[in-house]
Amino acid sequence: MNSFRISHLSDLHLTAKDNAARSEPKLFGALTGMNANFRKIVASRAIQESDLVLVTGDVTDRGDIDTWKFFWDTVEKANIKDRVRVVPGNHDVCCLGARLPKTGKQYREEDMAKAHKGLLMGGQPTKFPWAYSPDPRVVVFGLNSNNLGNFTAATNAMGDIGYYQLKDLASLLYKHREVPVKIIAMHHSPNIPEEKTAIKRGQRPFSQLDRIGHQVPESQRRMLNLLCVTHKVRLLLHGHLHMSEDRRITGVRYIGAAASTAPQHSPKGPILQFPTYQVSTRTHRVFCNSALVPI
Ligand SMILES: [Fe+2]
Repeated sequence: MNSFRISHLSDLHLTAKDNAARSEPKLFGALTGMNANFRKIVASRAIQESDLVLVTGDVTDRGDIDTWKFFWDTVEKANIKDRVRVVPGNHDVCCLGARLPKTGKQYREEDMAKAHKGLLMGGQPTKFPWAYSPDPRVVVFGLNSNNLGNFTAATNAMGDIGYYQLKDLASLLYKHREVPVKIIAMHHSPNIPEEKTAIKRGQRPFSQLDRIGHQVPESQRRMLNLLCVTHKVRLLLHGHLHMSEDRRITGVRYIGAAASTAPQHSPKGPILQFPTYQVSTRTHRVFCNSALVPI
């Protein structure tokens, strides 16, 4: 049986101008060169040989339309546009500075309209959740996990899936119940461990404040995990925390991607580590396992 290869990219933080810096909270040494690295990534063999390229948000650093245009132009030049699926991240939709309160609903609509323009440019779905089945063996469910309508930078990175989106996800999961490999793609991590667990996993621990600032509300995380368990979701892919993670939560595999355009540290100095081998090879193994399921 032919394999089906998925590449998972995340947190590209592209900018309209090539030399612009990433808007990260660093006084000195904010990252630059994301656009150049992205050009290298899309030209790489791993991407060129992928059947599907999933981007789990923060395509843009500031959510502007010129950057979306750069993204889609680059993807088109690399001849992979029809294989790319995108879910938005907080940098694509949320307010990264501060704004005066008006009615939250108005801001929610404005925030979403911004991302819709960028998604539509690449022919992407703009209603969430969506389901996309590029192969009879695989279906991907895309969620919008962003805290739309936020007022300040303190709340822009929080997650929010919402009850109605989860309810619609439940219907979509049921509708695609015969597809053996079900994958959920979203920007936020639905599992940011407490300090003790992070240390046990060998990860950088998040402070309580950091967890609150990046977390999906507990009731929504639990509901999502329950849906994954009951509908036999094999894999949940996310980004947001800019670190590579691979763990199982009540039997469901959760994989987080590092920021794909950020060089990783190595003994020889910083390198553009693409693919993030841990993610790529292990994801591949999930699909090998799917061959055991009669279809
Ligand atoms: Fe990010």
